[in-house]
Amino acid sequence: MFDKELIKRFETLDTPFYYYDIQLLRETLSRLKSAVDKYGYCVHYAVKANANPRILQEISSFGFGADCVSGNEVLRALECGFPADKVVFAGVGKSDTEIEIGIKNNIFCFNVESLQELEVINKIAGQNGKTASVALRLNPGIDAHTNKCINTGLADSKFGIDFNQMEATITFAQKLSNIKLIGIHFHIGSQILDKEPYRLLCQRSNEMQEKLSLMGLDLPEINLGGGLGIDYDDPDKNPVPDFESLMDLIHANLDVKDRQRVHFEFGRAIVAQCGTMVAKTLYIKPASQTTFAIVDAGFTDLIRPALYGAHHKIENLTSHYAQKDKYDIVGPICESTDVFDTGITLPKTVRGDLIAFRSAGAYGEIMASRYNLRNLPNVYYSDN
Ligand SMILES: Cc1ncc(COP(=O)(O)O)c(C=O)c1O
Repeated sequence: MFDKELIKRFETLDTPFYYYDIQLLRETLSRLKSAVDKYGYCVHYAVKANANPRILQEISSFGFGADCVSGNEVLRALECGFPADKVVFAGVGKSDTEIEIGIKNNIFCFNVESLQELEVINKIAGQNGKTASVALRLNPGIDAHTNKCINTGLADSKFGIDFNQMEATITFAQKLSNIKLIGIHFHIGSQILDKEPYRLLCQRSNEMQEKLSLMGLDLPEINLGGGLGIDYDDPDKNPVPDFESLMDLIHANLDVKDRQRVHFEFGRAIVAQCGTMVAKTLYIKPASQTTFAIVDAGFTDLIRPALYGAHHKIENLTSHYAQKDKYDIVGPICESTDVFDTGITLPKTVRGDLIAFRSAGAYGEIMASRYNLRNLPNVYYSDN
């Protein structure tokens, strides 16, 4: 992916930094667009994955909506060109102030996670003389077979309304005068590579639709959330996720009535592969069990390995050696968990070498912090 010219450019930049390949982002967006347009499905990009304004502007320019999980994400999405009528607002703990932001800006829909939240939205909508459109987020009790830290659709997860409390919640919502119930919402987890959980999700949605029909309800919106995974092991082989086959599977398995719309909230699948974090090797330190390559990025710059045990492909971009050695790649932060990977094979690495952490466009830059009073990482783009 990185030609000599680009590596030369990297050598002039201050590390650590995020580098975004805008061409790849655009290609991903156009592949996603044709996959969903085939069936008339809608996509709301999950802003939590990467809220960099430049990235958001690219995504909104393709006509997609935004999925937000905080009041500030709603405001950022609007500033970056997402129309309010394509903004959905999810999250298990929306504050009153955040709800008011959504209501005042006339967003498309609140994805509601509890009965009490419905009451609060109803009250705040009433105070503002508005009616809030809501979808109920249901916990489908599906195992997405992904990392346990990002598996959200299981019965013991804090997310969503228990399937068994559905009817009571709907009956309650129908009595609220400033709430308009428009749909159902699910999100079963993240980095899902196996398609079976999505097939089960379609089944759950179909069951729910039958229940709703028995209650005399025909809700126009079905939101199946995000979660499609990417190839962290071989980003060059699979730079764009297979949106097409997921959409074909959904089309084959999901019951959709006339005038009903189907929504998705992909985050990672859209932005992960276009981002790379680049760090500089500070020191090589041999130890009794391993050799440490200490780089100038830490978990304050890319937290996924420390937070979830996640894996990023790590490459030495500047080594001149044919010889290969094993390294533990670690950062400078004063915490033992500041480890990117252990026992990985790289060409012999020396002080000054540039190290790339691939597939870092999602849940990377956005999770950066200033712990240890470190600076935030720099950001560069392929086209400027
Ligand atoms: C409600 C909701 N929708 C969408 C997403 C985006 O997931 P992903 O980035 O895996 O597509 C998340 C991620 O946690 C989420 O919680």
